[in-house]
Amino acid sequence: MPDSAPQPPTAREEIWARLAARAADPASRGVRGKLGRDPNRFARLSASGAGLVLDLSRTALDEALLEDLLALAEAADLIGGLKRQMRGEMVNATERRAALHTALRAPDGAGIRAETPDGWQDASALIERERNRLRAFVQALHEGAITTASGVPFAAVLNLGIGGSDLGPAMATEALAAIRPRLAARFVGNVDGHGLAATLAGLDAARTLVLVASKSFTTQETMANARAVRGWLAGAIGEEGAARHLVALTANPAAAEAFGIAPDRIFAFGEWVGGRYSLWSSIGAAIALARGWDAFAGLLAGAEAMDRHAVTARPRRNLPLLLALTHTWHATFCGHRAYACLPYDSRLARLPAWLQQLEMESNGKRVDEAGRPVPYPTAPVVFGEPGTNAQHSFLQLLHQGTDIVPADIILIARPDHALADNHRILLAHALAQGAALALGRSEAEAEAEARAKGEDLALAPHRTFPGERPSILLHLPRLDPFHLGALLALYEHTVALQAALWRIDAFDQWGVELGKRLAGPLEQALATGDTGGLDPASAGAVRLLGRLG
Ligand code: F6P
Repeated sequence: MPDSAPQPPTAREEIWARLAARAADPASRGVRGKLGRDPNRFARLSASGAGLVLDLSRTALDEALLEDLLALAEAADLIGGLKRQMRGEMVNATERRAALHTALRAPDGAGIRAETPDGWQDASALIERERNRLRAFVQALHEGAITTASGVPFAAVLNLGIGGSDLGPAMATEALAAIRPRLAARFVGNVDGHGLAATLAGLDAARTLVLVASKSFTTQETMANARAVRGWLAGAIGEEGAARHLVALTANPAAAEAFGIAPDRIFAFGEWVGGRYSLWSSIGAAIALARGWDAFAGLLAGAEAMDRHAVTARPRRNLPLLLALTHTWHATFCGHRAYACLPYDSRLARLPAWLQQLEMESNGKRVDEAGRPVPYPTAPVVFGEPGTNAQHSFLQLLHQGTDIVPADIILIARPDHALADNHRILLAHALAQGAALALGRSEAEAEAEARAKGEDLALAPHRTFPGERPSILLHLPRLDPFHLGALLALYEHTVALQAALWRIDAFDQWGVELGKRLAGPLEQALATGDTGGLDPASAGAVRLLGRLG
């Protein structure tokens, strides 16, 4: 057959078209009717893995839709792709790298290798060596064998890093707040001096260990902060003392050494760990220092349990697969261009920020792996806040706005406090949001209630909730290291599986480059006042800042 002859649609294309047709039918997208009809819906549409329960009963899923979605997963060989990723194949095509964050949580002796342009490398050897070095360092520091320059125990750890070198460790350290702190932990990502100055003002340089966390060890913000903090340390305890307070967490040990960090204080990881997937590497040192090595090990164990689940559970019971398919149904087929992450636990306050980078930096792409524009919408906007706070700010729009914004609602069954009433109220609100979004309240109901109360009937449309708005519930028995690790790994796999559906590269981030490049000449213009070569808007802003500043 000549090349130009029309090709029959592939199985994947056929199923894709079927799903698109379903999405065009309002009945297929409906939630309320399905919830009302089937008393076994919760049991049929929830699945468990690595201690987590995923409940999809408040989405539009029914048997026919689920079958089509699972058929799409099979046609796209999603789990096969995940296995190839976890085997160390060069799945990051544009950067010609593996994506082996899963190897970081594999037990010793896993023997995982990473494919590189020069052949296969032993990834496990590097991982195990550095994990053992970090454990020894953390434990020695906790036991008092590693001390400050003046020989007293460290009291605080300051992590300087941005993006994945900040969000993961900061989020996990805060999430594990129930564990007695071994050291106070502070995180500074932004180059904004207000944040750094305020943080340093609350720390004693003589008792603070500073982690310079940067995969590349070239990120401008982190390096500017590292230089400022080195000066702060040296001012308090001298140059030599400062050197004993500095640690590097990086995939570029040579740059860390050139910066003046002693080789025995540099904890490395491989190039095949993406920044937003790096909290499992030495980048997670702040978690171990603040919450203890056992907590960090528990986090790795939970993630590893989810890794195993992801590649062994049958499709109908596979949490990452079901979550990826449901998110894709919402984002791509139904065109819901945002979703909310609503953890009902204030210790997960930074989870939405971590998830934003994970999902939007991974899958905010408009061309496929071969560079061709993709003809469908990819990653939605992710945002969120802990409940119930979110209810009192933006959930109005989710209930009554003109757009449908699905939500992931995360519940922790057992709290780490003794305020039972508070916890019951919290859980009730989480469940109520899911019910209100799905079931809504008709105008007739609103009118009947107004009539019964003798209230103005004109308010009925304002008190009407259309419902039919999907939400996904995720249950954790406790917010402990194991279940937190499983939750984070669940989202990592979900993002990777969605990328495979969209045929995009989840592991590159070319979209961050242009802004970085443009900042150079602008910084120069701000320093000199010379706006030559700048576009008119930038030149105007530089001149204005010069006048105002
Ligand atoms: O600019 C984006 C990014 O590369 C993220 O992907 C990464 O997490 C962050 O910057 C920090 O990078 P690094 O760890 O190399 O300092």
